[in-house]
Amino acid sequence: MKPSISTPLTNSIITALLISISTLCHAQNLWNKSGDMRKLIDDRFTLAVDQYKYLSKQIPEGETPQSFENNKSVNRDIQWWCSGFYTGNLWYIYEETKDQQIKEEAEKGLKVIMPNQTYTGNHDLGFMMYCSFGNAYRITGKPEYKSIIERSAASLATRYRPEIKAIQSWNKSKYWQCPVIIDNMMNLEMLNWVSDNGGDASYKEIAIAHANTTLKNHFRPDFSSFHVIDYDLKSKSVLRKATWQGAADCSSWSRGQGWALYGYTLMYRSTKNKAYLKQAKGIANFILNHPNLPADKVPFWDFDAQGIPFAKRDASAAAIISSALLELGQYSSIQDKNRFVSAAEAMIRSLSSDAYLAKKGENGGFLLKHSTGAYPLNTEIDVPLIYADYYFLEAMSRYKKWYL
Ligand code: GLY
Repeated sequence: MKPSISTPLTNSIITALLISISTLCHAQNLWNKSGDMRKLIDDRFTLAVDQYKYLSKQIPEGETPQSFENNKSVNRDIQWWCSGFYTGNLWYIYEETKDQQIKEEAEKGLKVIMPNQTYTGNHDLGFMMYCSFGNAYRITGKPEYKSIIERSAASLATRYRPEIKAIQSWNKSKYWQCPVIIDNMMNLEMLNWVSDNGGDASYKEIAIAHANTTLKNHFRPDFSSFHVIDYDLKSKSVLRKATWQGAADCSSWSRGQGWALYGYTLMYRSTKNKAYLKQAKGIANFILNHPNLPADKVPFWDFDAQGIPFAKRDASAAAIISSALLELGQYSSIQDKNRFVSAAEAMIRSLSSDAYLAKKGENGGFLLKHSTGAYPLNTEIDVPLIYADYYFLEAMSRYKKWYL
């Protein structure tokens, strides 16, 4: 007869182990509970092929699409901050669908914006050149794209101001001395990438310095962010904490909170500095626990907008936040991961619904409706915007890659 190994102690250890395994398994499956996310995403990419083939025919030579307003397509010159998103969108669509016509259009789009690699007129080079050439290089591996990204990083680095240890966003004007906006966190991705991929190491040092200065001056104790910090280069001090696109200096402009969340998440990706991760989680909690976040999780254009719950929404903010939350989930414990991925999924589902997503042939070829670019300036209110589509496509692509 074999000796029994069953004792009260071993029994309780086995029970505890079984409970932990079952809790873990249960906790691992809180997203895609209805099991339809793959189909939902694939269907949206199929729609994107048709929409973007239509959109590609509405763009005058040498311009890039911005929006569709009053039944007319709106296009801008290539120095506009969003000029890289159109071709970025095409690369995401091509990556998922392998549609050759979309790829040709994406390559054509790159040629249009290529001169931006030497542009130094603002801080938006990361948006313009990394969302476009960054995706093109990631997908095709063509060395010429890498050189263009390196040249663009050099152009962006010219805007670094050692006096304040930050990159100047906009040029001096009657409004500002040396403005730095929270959006600028997004441009750090290109600097990190170039340094992390054999390029000049000083670019990443600039990115880290900028992220640290922003951490110190842009945030309130509840992790919400001001939009613009105006610096004085002579005294190296903060002149003013203000807004440009938000409801008030002290308000929380929704897209700005999205840029902040995405920005500290990407800084953690490249540095593994825990302070950046803590910041990203704090921002995520501010957004997700905010009493003014609507039930469908598509933010009003400002968390403190007048007229909530009737204030305009900003679908672009939801797209940016969902994409960032999916990456943050990769760096989080199982409980936080469940929260972040489930919230991102809810945002993707809302944006994929008839309330926000255009039907084939509608919306000038854009995917998403109901974004708000600059409410106080009375422009781009409740319209499609090229970057809303970009982060929506990116979020769906990330969801498929990481969570299905
Ligand atoms: N970077 C400008 C904006 O988010 O509207």
